[in-house]
Amino acid sequence: MTPKLLVTPEGKSFYIKDISKDFHCQFGLIKAKDLKKKDGSIIKTNTKKELTLFTPFFIDTYKKIKRAPQIITRKDAAMIIAETGINKDSKVVDAGAGSGALAILLANICKEVTTYEIRKDFIKIVKKNKELLHLKNLTIKNKDLYKGIDEKNIDLITLDLPEPWKAIEKAKKALKPGGFLVNYSPTIPQVMDFVNKINKDKHLIHIKTIELIQREWEIEDRKVRPKTTQTVHTGFLSFVRKI
Ligand SMILES: C[S@@+](CC[C@H](N)C(=O)[O-])C[C@H]1O[C@@H](n2cnc3c(N)ncnc32)[C@H](O)[C@@H]1O
Repeated sequence: MTPKLLVTPEGKSFYIKDISKDFHCQFGLIKAKDLKKKDGSIIKTNTKKELTLFTPFFIDTYKKIKRAPQIITRKDAAMIIAETGINKDSKVVDAGAGSGALAILLANICKEVTTYEIRKDFIKIVKKNKELLHLKNLTIKNKDLYKGIDEKNIDLITLDLPEPWKAIEKAKKALKPGGFLVNYSPTIPQVMDFVNKINKDKHLIHIKTIELIQREWEIEDRKVRPKTTQTVHTGFLSFVRKI
């Protein structure tokens, strides 16, 4: 059954997985028969609140994924996609899968994504998240990436691992010439050990290491200012290319 999204004029949204039952929210009750109306329909709750009904986009469903360890945020994932130019022809390897947040965003635009994860409990979560998004091109492997990468001729390898420098040799073998290796690390000692090892390898070029700071603003009449509570630091991204 296709889920539906209900959105208030103020932007508050409700994701409805099961549209065969009446839906209750803070604005009252919506009858199951109304949830079957066509996209764009205005639905009234029993308290006369109006909400717009439509089929969720990929990103609406993505926001419902189950999270276990810290995920890579969308701003960082967006930069990986934009800097490497991966697309429907690209083959990608990712590790560790964690909740599969990055792997899922990559699988949404790439040909094939294989994600490695050592923890069985996290594998279960990634499988559920993969099902939620109906991604057939995402392979989940319960394997230690430091020990080896089965895939060959890879366009992009993404690392979000505690000791990413341990993956460099295996990543180099799996990448095609010109392929990208992108490391995401939350702390500078991890970045130092990773990039210093890259710099010693004549077949790997360290293109750049960056940190993306995103400031969200609140805008209400003349009260226009940065939001007072928001995440400042997520992680550092190091972009490497194999030659
Ligand atoms: C911070 S999480 C990754 C989050 C993920 N990038 C996301 O966006 O959801 C790091 C993951 O790496 C896994 N991990 C640690 N060492 C690993 C290894 N050698 N091979 C594969 N996975 C590993 C951990 O179990 C953990 O789930």
